[in-house]
Amino acid sequence: MSTDETKTIAAETSAETSAAPAENQNRKQPFPKGFLETISTGWADRPEQLPSERAQAAYAAARRDAVSAAFPGQRLVVPAGSYKQRSNDTDYPFRAHSAFAHLTGWASDAVPDSVLVFEPVPGGGHDATLYLRERADRTTAEFYGDATIGEFWIGPRPALAGVASDLGVATAHIDDFEARPGDLVLDEDDDLTRFVSELRLVKDAYEIEQLRLAVEVTARGFDDIVADLPRIIATPRGERAVEGIFHHRARVEGNGEGYDTIAASGPHACYLHWTRNDGAVVPGDLILVDAGVEVDSLYTADITRTLPVSGTFTAVQRTIYETVREAADAAFAVAKPGVKFRAVHEAAMAVIAQRTAEWGLLPVTADEALDADTGGQHRRYMVHGTSHHLGIDVHDCAQARRDMYYDGLLEEGMVFTIEPGLYFQIDDLTVPEEFRGIGVRIEDDVLVTADGVENLSAAIPRTADEIEAWIARLSA
Ligand code: GLY
Ligand code: MN
Repeated sequence: MSTDETKTIAAETSAETSAAPAENQNRKQPFPKGFLETISTGWADRPEQLPSERAQAAYAAARRDAVSAAFPGQRLVVPAGSYKQRSNDTDYPFRAHSAFAHLTGWASDAVPDSVLVFEPVPGGGHDATLYLRERADRTTAEFYGDATIGEFWIGPRPALAGVASDLGVATAHIDDFEARPGDLVLDEDDDLTRFVSELRLVKDAYEIEQLRLAVEVTARGFDDIVADLPRIIATPRGERAVEGIFHHRARVEGNGEGYDTIAASGPHACYLHWTRNDGAVVPGDLILVDAGVEVDSLYTADITRTLPVSGTFTAVQRTIYETVREAADAAFAVAKPGVKFRAVHEAAMAVIAQRTAEWGLLPVTADEALDADTGGQHRRYMVHGTSHHLGIDVHDCAQARRDMYYDGLLEEGMVFTIEPGLYFQIDDLTVPEEFRGIGVRIEDDVLVTADGVENLSAAIPRTADEIEAWIARLSA
């Protein structure tokens, strides 16, 4: 074979293995003849060790049964999703669609572009099949030449039989999947999308165990931050140091963060989703840290603590802090099965209205501020809701109907946040000068029990006194 022929083969090979239609060849080294003749040989057999079924498999099967019962006779398609381009030929880390993870039990280890299909069977019910791109044989160019999916590049990929055994579901190669007219496809079909979102409102035992784990790891991440406060203060962009310290814990013990960490020091705490995190952490200020570890099953915690950087609250900071805690405690006190989800928010907001009125911040009385039609003046200082469901998504069950969510009733097994706050912007002329630039949020994750709620994050210090003792203990 001439050199030219070799080049032709190399060009064909890379064109065939690339997902991009006209791949840039400016830094491709051609594979010479000797490489192509030898690359596919000399590899030991890989005996397939079939794993035993993972703990989540039985739970995922029960969830699929619920979906099957709700859509008789219909073919349902639940894609895992694909890579998302970050720039040029780099992608964001792949994360499976939450509903796909919920219905398969395949989470941080899911293969991109997989599809779960519910095939209706005569006589009722469905057969579920998980289609995935099985690893390519070592005789293929994909193996050595495809930087996105080739095992030479990204490491071992599972075989169909292994996935079937691990997840307890039938598997097939993605090339055998065909979309059909009439398919109900997740995210395209509103009824299916709503159903699988509402299916996650009440957590099963596996989910509750995973949420407990996510909170436990998150607690260790908060301990890491507190223990490292002296170094954080000494770092010019101390907020980034906070983000990085938490990230370390999230990656070492979990899949990562469930959402971008908010490390908001001083007046930044008044920006509810401050994720720029490029500020200094200055003694005398408060720092608000809102962070949650997503564990390998993809369940995430969502916790906020607000810390005095110097270790002790000033009198004004303590007053504001303890008022937020009073609002949170009021929310905890009403939460139990049979109560409306919105009642939890209303209990917290009643405290916020009462105290901001007492401080002379409102142009109306607390009762007037709480009027559903004409009030709301107190919400200037807390514009966000008090609670959201929590699970595989930080804002879980997002496609549930309002009747099932905000206006729905609490049920045993639901998990949600309680996270009131008070935020006095640095340039807010309606508040006394000493309030300006102070933002406080306290966020806990709770599980609805038979007669109330259990605070899953109770082990993380929460009162002003506990917070000061925590800092003294870990960072002194
Ligand atoms: N943790 C951010 C939020 O709940 O919006
Ligand atoms: Mn939250």
